[in-house]
Parts: sequence; structure tokens; C-alpha cells
Amino acid sequence: MNIDLLKTRLTAIGQQHVLRYWDELDEAAQQQFAGQLEKIDLESLPALVEAYVLNRPKTEIPSDLEPACYFPKTPRDDAQKALYDRAKQHGEDLFRAGKIAALTVAGGQGTRLGFDGPKGTYPIGPVSGKSLFAYFAETLLFAGKKYGKPITWYIMTSLLNHSATVAFFRENNFFGLAEDQVFFFSQGTMPAFGTDGKLLLGAKDSLSLSPDGHGGTLLALRRSGAIDRMQKEGTEILSYFQVDNPLAPAIHPLFAGLHDLEGSEMSAIMLAKTGPFEKLGNFCVSGGRTSIIEYSDLPADLAESRNPDGSLRFLCGSPAIHLLNRSFVERLTEGGKLQLPWHRADKKVPYLDENGTLIQPEEPNAVKLESFIFDAMPLAERTMLLEGDRDTMFAPTKNKTGVDSAESCRAMILARDAQRLADAGFVLPHGARIELSPLAGVEKDDLLAYFRDNPAEGAW
Ligand code: UD1
Repeated sequence: MNIDLLKTRLTAIGQQHVLRYWDELDEAAQQQFAGQLEKIDLESLPALVEAYVLNRPKTEIPSDLEPACYFPKTPRDDAQKALYDRAKQHGEDLFRAGKIAALTVAGGQGTRLGFDGPKGTYPIGPVSGKSLFAYFAETLLFAGKKYGKPITWYIMTSLLNHSATVAFFRENNFFGLAEDQVFFFSQGTMPAFGTDGKLLLGAKDSLSLSPDGHGGTLLALRRSGAIDRMQKEGTEILSYFQVDNPLAPAIHPLFAGLHDLEGSEMSAIMLAKTGPFEKLGNFCVSGGRTSIIEYSDLPADLAESRNPDGSLRFLCGSPAIHLLNRSFVERLTEGGKLQLPWHRADKKVPYLDENGTLIQPEEPNAVKLESFIFDAMPLAERTMLLEGDRDTMFAPTKNKTGVDSAESCRAMILARDAQRLADAGFVLPHGARIELSPLAGVEKDDLLAYFRDNPAEGAW
């Protein structure tokens, strides 16, 4: 630790106040604080402060913005049907060859859900009470068996929940997965700024840090050694989904096959939006590049514009389900730097004032910066969008009640499973609440096969 050098660097960027309590710290605390500061690219902070804290960047809407094209969920004609059949086969081959791994982003705070713990530990199963993590684990277990290749699962945590997440997996014996099948890695952090651009202290020996957004996944994959492991295991494609959506199609052969056959570097599932202002990112195209414009940034006149048949022009909403090529992640993080834009969020962040008192603000007092994974999309040479089925793929657990809540998610799991049982020929007793385990099957056809092969299971 070279404290003089650190002081000089901080003074050069006008942030020397963070060492205000330095002399009060014991040696261990000094060491860890210096280590924390040295991990930050201090010299890049003035430009960030100028661009994002002292000014409020506006998302520029390009004048040539058009809705993105997509593959519909039902093929349009015979030629497309033949393509889908071929793609599905190809996707299955990719799983059989072990070329696809799963990637879950689980570093968020889940504040809206009001749950004290990593969101993945939330008991979402409507009947079983199983956690979101258990639900995904069972999906991967089933697919590993079906395709004869275990699927490696990369889980991104953050400084807020890493240990609790790992502990939860241990307590639950990794839900039947082999321990080395799961690779936990922690995302990077960003310091919070006061609205005057000064770094905030969370304690005398620490800045106020928070996760750097799910865009941080890309760099964290490289830093953690996940990319090295993928190279060794021959993983070429990452199936990316958010921890809040138990119905996310982590294993989707048609999606994977189309992605590969189309030569896409980053693909996405799109959902037809239920209305102009549904809170989903919007897939758009500008200058031949696909991008996602957040719901909060799409101007109302564009959001509301309609085709002659009355349908929404900007129809494609993002449920945040992607496929990313490993080679694309490698390219974007070359040299250990990731060039994604930052997004500003004004938040209430507790901070230490000049007297060393911890202040709990009642109003937003700070700026947090996050990067978003979907900002990588315009950087891909080729992209591909496939329409997904809202009822069976998207049940985000964001709030306690109401829209996109634990309640609505549980109702969707029950409805989907009731439909699958009906498809298999079962007549459900009125009011029955039946939840199917992904261990019995992930896709509709898997379940049909399961009930055919296990008739006794249906003897209730
Ligand atoms: C997100 C998307 C939105 C999409 C919607 C679908 C953003 C900004 N918007 O909205 O386009 O239509 O989901 O449900 O993401 N996470 C991390 N680390 C972080 C921040 C988040 O791992 O630093 C993870 C969370 O654990 C969660 C996911 O990313 O799994 C989404 O984060 P969240 O803040 O809930 O995004 P939304 O605003 O709900």
C-alpha cells in the first residue's frame, strides 16, 4: 500500500475527502480501504461525474428508429416451418454436445419484493414452496439428463448477497446438482456519488458501494475465470436469464438452434407488449443495429404509434432472456475493459457526514451508476429475435402483490401446469392447485412423454 500515491491520485481528481478518517483507522482497516480504492479506476471518475452526475444524460432517440424484426412463435409458412424444425434439431444437438451453459443474474437487491435475502432464495413454488434457485436447478437437472450432458450453471451474485447465496446452495445440497456444476461469481461494484459529484463514504473505512448493474456480468465473467472454464469445457453459448423469472426458458432448443444457424452473436426472446406503456424494454433498430430502449426512455408518441391494422408499431418487449456467444463476451471485454454506457439512478443512500455521523436520507441524495447487459446488443455483428409465449415463459417476481408480483407469478405457474395436465389428458378436480416439478419435464412434449411413461403418476 502506497498511501502517499493514493492521496496524490485522490487529490488530483478532487476526491481526497474520502480519506478524512484515515488517521482514526487501525492498520487492517487502512489496508482494506486502500485495497478498495485501488480497485477503482480513479482517473476515469471526473469524466463520469461530469457526464452522469453533474449532468443528466438524456437517452438520444435516433431519428431513424424502427421496430425490430423477429421470428414469430408460429412459423409464417412452410419454408419457415422447415427452418424451425431444422433449428430445433440443431439446438438439441448443441445441448447434447455440451456447447450451451446457463447464466443467471442474481446480484440485484430485490428491494421491490420486500424480501430480506437473495432473491433466488425466495419461496416461489405455489404448492411446493420451492425457491427460485431450486426451480432453475431442477430445470437444469432435467435437461442434463435428457441431453446426456450436465449443464454448467454460472450464477452472478453481488457483494450484497454472495455468501448468503453460496450458503443457501450448500444447505440444500445444490438441489441435486453436482457441486462443481455451479460456478458462482460476484459482479463488480460502483461507488455512489453525492449530487455534487463527491464520492460518498458508507463508513470510515469504506466508500458507499453498490452492484454495477447486470452489464457488469460481462466483465465479471472474464475476471472470475468463468470464461477460462467455458473455453476448457467447450461452451460456446450462454443462456442468460434473470433470477426473478422461474418460467424463463433456460433450455430452449429452437431458440438456440435459430441463434446458431442465423450466425447471431446475441439473441433475445421478445414478447408482444400488452400495451404501449408496459414496463418492458423495447427492441428497436437504428443504423442496422438492434438495441433495447427502456420503457422509461421510449417517447410516448413512439410507444403509442400503431400500424394500419391497429397493432403497436413498437411491439417487441424484452423479458430479458438472451443467448450470448462466448466469443462475443470475450471480444467485449478484451483488455479487461467494458465499453457499455452507464445509466443514472437517483437513490437514497446512507452516508457518513463530516462529523462521522451516519445519515439515513429521507429523499434521494445520491447518484448510482449501472450498466445494462442489453446495451451490448448494438455491438453485436448479428442479432436474432424470437417471439416467446408470454403465458409459459414470463412470470417475473418483482413486487409483493399486483402486477409482476410473487402472487401473479404463482398464479401463472399453476395456470401453465394446469394447461399441461389438460394437454396430457387429465381432468382436474375443480379448484385443484397442482404444481409440476421441472424434474418431470421442461417443455410441453417432455411432460407428455413423462405421463405416457409413468401412467401410475396420474392415478390420482
Ligand atoms: C428488467 C429490464 C427490462 C426488462 C425486465 C423484464 C433493466 C434495467 N430492465 O427490468 O428491460 O423488460 O427486466 O423483467 O434491467 N441484477 C444484477 N445485478 C445488478 C442489477 C440487477 O444481477 O446490479 C439482476 C437482478 O438480480 C435481476 C435482473 O438483473 O435478476 C433485473 O434487474 P431489475 O432491476 O429487477 O430490472 P427491472 O427494472 O425489473
